[in-house]
Amino acid sequence: MHALIVTAHPHPDSLTHSIAAGVARGITESGPHRAEIANLAQEGFRPEFTREDFAAFNAAGALPEDVRAEQTRIDSADALVLVFPVYWWSMPALMKGWIDRVFSAGWAYEETADGRLIKKLRHLPVHLVAIGAANMKTWEKHRYQEAMKVQIEEGIFNYCGAPVMSSSLLLSPEYPDTNVMLQDAHRLGQKTFNTQQPVAV
Ligand SMILES: Cc1cc2nc3c(=O)[nH]c(=O)nc-3n(C[C@H](O)[C@H](O)[C@H](O)COP(=O)(O)O)c2cc1C
Repeated sequence: MHALIVTAHPHPDSLTHSIAAGVARGITESGPHRAEIANLAQEGFRPEFTREDFAAFNAAGALPEDVRAEQTRIDSADALVLVFPVYWWSMPALMKGWIDRVFSAGWAYEETADGRLIKKLRHLPVHLVAIGAANMKTWEKHRYQEAMKVQIEEGIFNYCGAPVMSSSLLLSPEYPDTNVMLQDAHRLGQKTFNTQQPVAV
């Protein structure tokens, strides 16, 4: 099995990249699996929705090449894992732009003339690993986790039919020792291809 781990952080020494590497190790050590890390920052993915994207959205032009390449990369994966730092209680703009552009109408979903929604990513299991620096008390007080669940799990993946198999929030203040956080990341990786039921959305 092959997992595509998509991450978006400008610094290679960040906690985010260590966690992505831990998840990747967990995946490869749990069976004859492969894990590819796509670091959108390093790859220079352009997140802004262009006129070309807009033309494709309106069925008035072809999808940009970089978008097609990303879709091909996802099509060749058996699971999609997003590992991201929480920025303003959501995913970073770079990753959101990747979703905006790559999860295009026609590929991720279709809206028919009579108003029906066709979900086109039912075959793609998704795992989410969000990393934050605020403590759980703050997250609970403002119901930020609920907000992320509605926006990302329901609003993006459920809309396209992609089952969210796991969704983890790793908060550094809740870990006295970063190594324990990295061990949890490794465990999440081990479970990637061993999770049977999607989380409730
Ligand atoms: C622009 C920006 C916004 C952030 N917003 C949040 C936030 O809303 N909630 C939170 O828990 N942490 C927030 N953080 C902290 C990041 O999630 C933190 O970078 C994360 O723990 C990952 O660590 P790393 O940057 O070393 O990978 C933010 C950081 C930045 C740079």
